[in-house]
Amino acid sequence: MREEVLPGGNTTGAVLIDGVVHKRASPWTTTVHAVLRHLEDAGFDAAPRALGFDDQGREMLTYLTGETIGDRVPWPGWASADSMLAQVGRWLRRVHDLTADFAPPQDEHWFIGGAMGPGLVVGHQDAAPYNAVVDGDRLIGFCDWDIAGPSSRDWDLAFSALTWVPLASPRDGAPLSDHDLRERSRRLQLLLDAYGYDGDRRAFGTVAPQRARRQAGVIRQMADAGDAASVALLPIADLLERSATAVEALPDDFWVDRGTA
Ligand SMILES: Nc1ncnc2c1ncn2[C@@H]1O[C@H](COP(=O)(O)OP(=O)(O)O)[C@@H](O)[C@H]1O
Ligand SMILES: [Mg+2]
Repeated sequence: MREEVLPGGNTTGAVLIDGVVHKRASPWTTTVHAVLRHLEDAGFDAAPRALGFDDQGREMLTYLTGETIGDRVPWPGWASADSMLAQVGRWLRRVHDLTADFAPPQDEHWFIGGAMGPGLVVGHQDAAPYNAVVDGDRLIGFCDWDIAGPSSRDWDLAFSALTWVPLASPRDGAPLSDHDLRERSRRLQLLLDAYGYDGDRRAFGTVAPQRARRQAGVIRQMADAGDAASVALLPIADLLERSATAVEALPDDFWVDRGTA
């Protein structure tokens, strides 16, 4: 049967066979599938549905029809459109609200470790532009739930803020102008407003760099353990650490009122 390699994988990648996504499974895949079934049972259709495993032990998922970034450089315009950012905020809110009561299976196992507990939600943890599926200017949903896991709302929001606002530093090392900073502040508020965030927005000043450093740490740890995909991601670990330092240096008013001033 014909296997079509899907473009844009950062780690294991995925193939399409007869309209169904097949992807190498991990010890945590059955727990992730339980999350996807939980969302499906709630009528949420902006995530792939879990279809079990094929005869090679690969996980099977429904294919979200639409456009992805794939291997494109530069990223398409929708990755920086305000309307998409607002949809991402609403998408995260729905996922968090719907998973606040998620009861994990007995053999609960997550990529990031840990366990569900009171006050936690299931964060996608990688809801970045490169995992979004869109149709025109509409967000269809996010694929790649591999590293989903127990999270505070802020922790998951912080990763999407890093990649969508973005809060991350430019890859080419170009300095940010004052205009860029105002834009970033405005877009952060847009994301948080769309989420319906009612926490302390200055909290992002501490959570976002912590989140970036944690991601970098996980990449480095896996690379040290010999994981080839993580070795390839080492430049991203550098970028995340550089971004964390830059975010920590942002002025206090960035987090609240700079964009509306
Ligand atoms: N369920 C899905 N629906 C639509 N496209 C998908 C789906 N799963 C994966 N893809 C496509 O395949 C690419 C690689 O899959 P992904 O799960 O992101 O792998 P990796 O973990 O290697 O990043 C994605 O960037 C996306 O383009
Ligand atoms: Mg991916």
